[in-house]
Amino acid sequence: MLQGSRCRLCDSIPRVWLLLASGILKGYALEKKVVKSKAGEKVGLPCCHEIPSSEGLHNYRVYWQKNTTEVVLAYAEGNVIREHERYKNRTEMNEKNLTLWISPVEILDNGPYQCVVQHLRFSQNSVVLCDETVTLFVTADFSKPNITANVSSTSCESTEMIVRCSSHGGFPKPQISGALNNVSVAWNTTSVSKSSLNLYNITGKLRLNVTKDVSFSCSVEYNGLAKSSSLLLKKTSNCVVTTEPSSYNVITASSIIIIIFLLAITLAARYLRRHVCSYCCKPQDSVEEGVKECVKPPTSPKVPSETSSV
Ligand SMILES: *[C@@H]1O[C@H](CO)[C@@H](O)[C@H](O)[C@H]1NC(C)=O
Ligand SMILES: *[C@@H]1O[C@H](CO)[C@@H](O)[C@H](O)[C@H]1NC(C)=O
Ligand SMILES: *[C@@H]1O[C@H](CO)[C@@H](O)[C@H](O)[C@H]1NC(C)=O
Ligand SMILES: *[C@@H]1O[C@H](CO)[C@@H](O)[C@H](O)[C@H]1NC(C)=O
Ligand SMILES: *[C@@H]1O[C@H](CO)[C@@H](O)[C@H](O)[C@H]1NC(C)=O
Ligand SMILES: *[C@@H]1O[C@H](CO)[C@@H](O)[C@H](O)[C@H]1NC(C)=O
Ligand SMILES: *[C@@H]1O[C@H](CO)[C@@H](O)[C@H](O)[C@H]1NC(C)=O
Ligand SMILES: *[C@@H]1O[C@H](CO)[C@@H](O)[C@H](O)[C@H]1NC(C)=O
Repeated sequence: MLQGSRCRLCDSIPRVWLLLASGILKGYALEKKVVKSKAGEKVGLPCCHEIPSSEGLHNYRVYWQKNTTEVVLAYAEGNVIREHERYKNRTEMNEKNLTLWISPVEILDNGPYQCVVQHLRFSQNSVVLCDETVTLFVTADFSKPNITANVSSTSCESTEMIVRCSSHGGFPKPQISGALNNVSVAWNTTSVSKSSLNLYNITGKLRLNVTKDVSFSCSVEYNGLAKSSSLLLKKTSNCVVTTEPSSYNVITASSIIIIIFLLAITLAARYLRRHVCSYCCKPQDSVEEGVKECVKPPTSPKVPSETSSV
């Protein structure tokens, strides 16, 4: 009884330790083995075994599989025994360190991959040398955001416009942010759509009143990266219309003043001429004589009067 219970305890302690240890090791390995790449590039997924130079691939069986369910590429006795349709012509395995090369890599290739290596020395009794997971993380760059502004209505005080910012063809799922003169704004609507290629498109829409020229910037953030653009939103100079009437008034007023002035001058001239004429230009007199006399009469009476007064 005592011995039995002791043995159970003795057995269970190491088991717990083993589980813990393997859990820690696996967690560590999972965290460590992440390979990052960009869509369209060539990426190498490292395996867990290197074939010694004294041996060849013909002594091994190598499975590269994705998410434990589909075989990407498998080798046995030095020959390809299976190749996944989706990876055809895109994969290549290094025959020494068993690294799996994928080129060009696609968004759909994202996920965990396992490399399983078996030794075939004792042909029937194959031994698993290692089994390791490496996670492939493929990203795609978003296009530079395209900002468009459409004026929906305009008044003297403000211009109401609809601003759109869109970016496409990226991965993973992004966030979109907008700012007016560096002050962030809330979007009226944002939408994210996933295309058939598993790439995302994103659009943000904003309706706002612009009372003065402002700088609008839009930023698309994904996987710690950001792509941004900015656009100067100009308040359409509609208020020129309200300043125009005032200038119009100035012009009309000044022209009226000029007209009145001209009229006054002409009237004065006519009056003077008539006055002068009535003074001296008798119809019997010749024009030349009249003119000569016209100058004389007003001056001659004045001079004596002045002298007399003095
Ligand atoms: C495997 O070998 C290739 C070519 O020699 C090399 O580029 C790659 O870095 C190696 N990978 C590992 C995990 O050693
Ligand atoms: C792979 O390449 C071969 C030869 O270049 C070609 O005939 C075949 O159609 C290609 N397969 C795929 C799936 O692209
Ligand atoms: C892996 O396969 C499981 C089911 O077998 C599935 O639920 C999971 O979404 C897959 N993960 C990836 C990254 O493909
Ligand atoms: C930006 O969007 C507008 C309207 O959607 C489009 O006409 C224009 O071609 C786009 N510009 C770029 C550089 O994609
Ligand atoms: C916005 O911020 C950037 C840097 O953070 C600065 O260079 C720029 O002048 C700022 N613009 C305005 C309008 O405040
Ligand atoms: C859109 O945003 C503007 C400014 O943030 C706000 O005044 C307006 O009410 C919003 N409209 C809708 C439909 O959310
Ligand atoms: C994403 O944007 C691209 C380029 O503008 C377009 O061809 C594609 O149809 C869009 N996809 C979706 C799902 O809207
Ligand atoms: C913009 O201003 C106009 C009139 O000043 C108002 O009718 C409209 O609701 C405003 N729009 C927004 C989005 O604030």
